[in-house]
Amino acid sequence: MCGIVGYVGKQLAAPILVDGLRRLEYRGYDSAGVAIHNAEGLGVVRTLGKLRVLHEALSEQPLSGTVGIGHTRWATHGRPSEENAHPHVAGGVAVVHNGIIENHIALRRELEADGVVFSSDTDTEIVAHLIDRALRAGASKLVEAVRISLGRVQGAYAIAVVSEHEPATIVAARHGSPLVVGAGDGEMLCGSDIAALLSHTRDMVFLEDGDIAELTCAGVSYSNLAGEPVERESKRVDWSPVMAERGGYKHFMLKEIHEQPEAIAATVRGRLDLDAGDVHGGEIGLTEEIAKRTRRVYLVACGTSYHASLVGRYWIESLAKLPTFVELGSEVSCRDCVFFEDDLVIAVSQSGETFDTIGAVKAAKAAGATVLAVANVLDSAIPRMSHGALYTRAGPEIGVASTKCFSAQLVALLMIAVYLGRRRDALDAATGTEVLQALCEAPSQINELLGDADYVRSVAAQMAHATDVLFLGRGYNYPIALEGALKLKEISYAHAEGYAAGEMKHGPIALIDEDLPVVVVCPKDRTYEKTFANIQEVRAREGQVIVLATKGDEALHELAAHILWLPEASEWTLPLLTVVPLQLLAYYIAARKGHDVDQPRNLAKTVTVE
Ligand code: AGP
Repeated sequence: MCGIVGYVGKQLAAPILVDGLRRLEYRGYDSAGVAIHNAEGLGVVRTLGKLRVLHEALSEQPLSGTVGIGHTRWATHGRPSEENAHPHVAGGVAVVHNGIIENHIALRRELEADGVVFSSDTDTEIVAHLIDRALRAGASKLVEAVRISLGRVQGAYAIAVVSEHEPATIVAARHGSPLVVGAGDGEMLCGSDIAALLSHTRDMVFLEDGDIAELTCAGVSYSNLAGEPVERESKRVDWSPVMAERGGYKHFMLKEIHEQPEAIAATVRGRLDLDAGDVHGGEIGLTEEIAKRTRRVYLVACGTSYHASLVGRYWIESLAKLPTFVELGSEVSCRDCVFFEDDLVIAVSQSGETFDTIGAVKAAKAAGATVLAVANVLDSAIPRMSHGALYTRAGPEIGVASTKCFSAQLVALLMIAVYLGRRRDALDAATGTEVLQALCEAPSQINELLGDADYVRSVAAQMAHATDVLFLGRGYNYPIALEGALKLKEISYAHAEGYAAGEMKHGPIALIDEDLPVVVVCPKDRTYEKTFANIQEVRAREGQVIVLATKGDEALHELAAHILWLPEASEWTLPLLTVVPLQLLAYYIAARKGHDVDQPRNLAKTVTVE
């Protein structure tokens, strides 16, 4: 979950590394550090806390030099501290690492028996000592020492290494954790993802597991763990550096909420055939043959992506008439989940790297199921290991709390539902057209909702003191209630529960009193009457109700303490709309509390641990 970056070129490395880390900080932000070759050898600065602390330290203690590596950490082995911050140094070798070395205890004992004294609790320091030992034992080149050392290591890693033995080189390697290499003008960079390299290049090589890259100013060469050269193709990415900037918004999250209309429009672009009420299969990673042979759909995901999958289930069941199951990635490995060869397993993941979802994909593939990835990050692990991929086109999402990627995932799942429905004769062309037309109207309806942001802010101001909030909804409003609750707890640290409104009477109703805000998603849809009755039950117990209602619903207006209006819209696309006021509500509550909205405590955007 950490972020790593490396630079070798003609410019000063420190500002480039810090800028790269800034773009990777969403991956972890409890400590940071850099190692840079300068006139005195390898200069290392590590600091506890967010990147700005490192930035300040480097202003006080500048490091010159044009070759270096950097790291931003999300602690796994050892608490957040300066000693445990990367880079880890042994002899003249410095290493940054993202991942987990599984056999670190055995290796640590072996190295200690050799006389090594460790200065941190991390698994990473072992790698630095192994490389140092290999160099001292006569490895002729840094790349060779890295190869020898990685031969001893089990687990997942992306590493970047510099050494005083070869001050003009960075060696980077990948196994299980992502690593991208990019060529700028007379410079080479590597990093955990595209965003770190974007201001230098848009031509990137996504390393494969087992790849080792040797970077110098002159270029890069790739080899494998056996020392054989390998060829890797460069891909041009269509994200621009500007997309990864805040662009005048106070937080990335707010910017990303406002980018949802464009994220949706981009995700459908070129993929729909409105007249035929259909979706182009090749564009969404599906084929006629897969659609026809599928007997069940299994969606696997975590967190916000799981909530998108829950909405997807309603669509796939309704439009494609296929039995559909949704499972948390982390639970697949805890159950004897049964996958069949004629299952279509859809792995939904913004980052494409989530460890738990990867585990579920492996289990599904082992059972012979077809796996389709829905991911936002090009060439990330899950699309790579799946049989097909549908990339959402939300652009880089930096805020740890996912917003625009959720909307783009919904779009992807709706397109999949239509495609499956049309192939399986469960959906006629006219209904397909109606659904897809509704999808095309969603961006302007969301713009309308965003126009009410100030009103949502005023409601948030009145809710900011709440320590507990209940979110309710029925049908596809239920996953939206779950998502509203997740957003609120992630960034405002208030306790929030999402519940199926029909379940309220089975327990949560005991919580209701005049102090508990209850947010109810209650648009005019097929669940309306029943949810309306639940709102009355809350009111009868003095609960204060904040309702998301369709414009003009006077009956709800009278019942609600606050009402967040939704535009008239097709039922098919309501989840794309109802989530927006809930995202804004969470955002404004957290911002009012003065929280670090983009980097909430204890979280990381890419969760590569179990
Ligand atoms: C979303 O706000 C969260 N930070 C988190 O729940 C996230 O959705 C989850 O970790 C899954 O991530 P993924 O989509 O990258 O797989």
